[in-house]
Amino acid sequence: MTLASSDMASTARPFLIECPELASRRFSMPADNRIADLFACPRCDKTPLSEKNGGYRCSACKVDYASVGDIPWLFAEPDATLGEWRNRLHFSLQQLSNESQRMQAELAADNIGALTRKRLERQVCAVDEHRNMLRKILEPIDMQSMQASHESYLALRTRLPIDQGIQTYYANIHRDWCWGDTENEASINEIKAIVSEGDGDNRALGDTLILGAGAGRLAYDIHMQLGTERTIAMDFNPLLVLVAKSVMQGDEPELYEFPLAPKTLEDFAVLRKLSAPEPVREDFHLVFGDALRPPFAPASFNTVVTPWIIDIVNEALPIQAARINRLLKPQGRWINFGSLAFDHPVRAHRYSAEETLAIVQEAGFAPPHTREQSIPYMCSPASRHGRQETVFTFSATKTGDVDAPARHKALPDWIVTGKAPVPLLKSFRSQALSTQIYSYIMSLIDGKRTIADMAMMLEQQKLMTHQEAEPAIRTFLTRMYDDSQRNSGF
Ligand SMILES: C[S@@+](CC[C@H](N)C(=O)[O-])C[C@H]1O[C@@H](n2cnc3c(N)ncnc32)[C@H](O)[C@@H]1O
Repeated sequence: MTLASSDMASTARPFLIECPELASRRFSMPADNRIADLFACPRCDKTPLSEKNGGYRCSACKVDYASVGDIPWLFAEPDATLGEWRNRLHFSLQQLSNESQRMQAELAADNIGALTRKRLERQVCAVDEHRNMLRKILEPIDMQSMQASHESYLALRTRLPIDQGIQTYYANIHRDWCWGDTENEASINEIKAIVSEGDGDNRALGDTLILGAGAGRLAYDIHMQLGTERTIAMDFNPLLVLVAKSVMQGDEPELYEFPLAPKTLEDFAVLRKLSAPEPVREDFHLVFGDALRPPFAPASFNTVVTPWIIDIVNEALPIQAARINRLLKPQGRWINFGSLAFDHPVRAHRYSAEETLAIVQEAGFAPPHTREQSIPYMCSPASRHGRQETVFTFSATKTGDVDAPARHKALPDWIVTGKAPVPLLKSFRSQALSTQIYSYIMSLIDGKRTIADMAMMLEQQKLMTHQEAEPAIRTFLTRMYDDSQRNSGF
């Protein structure tokens, strides 16, 4: 198929469109020293960071924190985190090229109707262009060429606890900067309401930290409409943060939207122009970092905002609440906004609204002021999917300090640093054994043997009885077949 013949092929644009007359109105780059006073080493949690060569350094840990795309990259293990995000990017790129190949293979069949052909051709072009756009945006994190195969990434994805990919929350980008005016306005209105009702006196927000700011629209609206002193918007997803930077500095990049339930044939892939109402004003700063290891000195902020994040992180709320307390100055304010859909593996950590408010008070806050409001959520004009969410907003004033929570460790050091031996855990040994059995079964597939033949061979190898083997092989092959349909279709 000639992609150039498609009506979409000519619409590809470079991601960053430079606009010289806007340059002077752009927000300050964090490599200047206007926010250096807020930073503390995310590794030792206490040493102030000093500036070094446009980045930052912890003199105690002797670790340098570089900038990525001119945005401070302040993770406790900066190199390992960069490597992880790069892997996730490459995995996404591999998935997209697989998706494109799969659709091209389907297009090669003669029994495809004209409309289906048209749709698939549009989708192939969009997916290919989307892949190039992602690469371009994420150039700052993508310094190595891709070497691993799609199969290796697939294998690793299923083995490692990776639940946040590069494109998780991708839809937020279009909601934030294209079609989401109604939702965005409803969100900032909730924040305005809680600010005025919560304290009665509309006191200033001051230095404000937004944790998990995503593609940044709510952080932008807070900064532009609520007169914060300095706003720091932090997230760990490089795609969202780099898009936020581009849009807020006045660029108008284009990115495809792939709606969940497209309304029409054209809606399967919609090229959207992203833009902010105006370039963000001074004193807005983006930071890459982990909300569970925030790279800030204690008592740095007058306000901490947690929009749609406390219920998605893999940490119990009492620990998060204590950490937020530590980040706030005396009488500082914690504003939470979003759902309370805690999905923690520990059932006891899936809190109700009542438990949430009790936990906040136990973490050194006055009884929170609360609001509940039904607002539209992810209602793309190109999608049949979209919902109403009853958002739960609270504002709580810090009344006293609490003990620092234990340092969060997402993964053991032998994974993160790669310098300690990988332990021979019991579960690893049993996983290794089952992987050998799986690969043995896969090796038996020669296009001739039946499931009954394979069960016989497993019995001969004394791995299982024939009665056990047959249903087990059937279940295993059903899963493999389902995966093959989803992932490649070949
Ligand atoms: C549900 S989205 C909400 C995004 C944004 N606050 C909004 O209101 O649209 C959750 C965000 O939290 C970010 N996130 C999740 N865990 C995080 C962590 N440990 N550190 C930093 N950001 C995190 C995700 O990348 C994502 O942008």
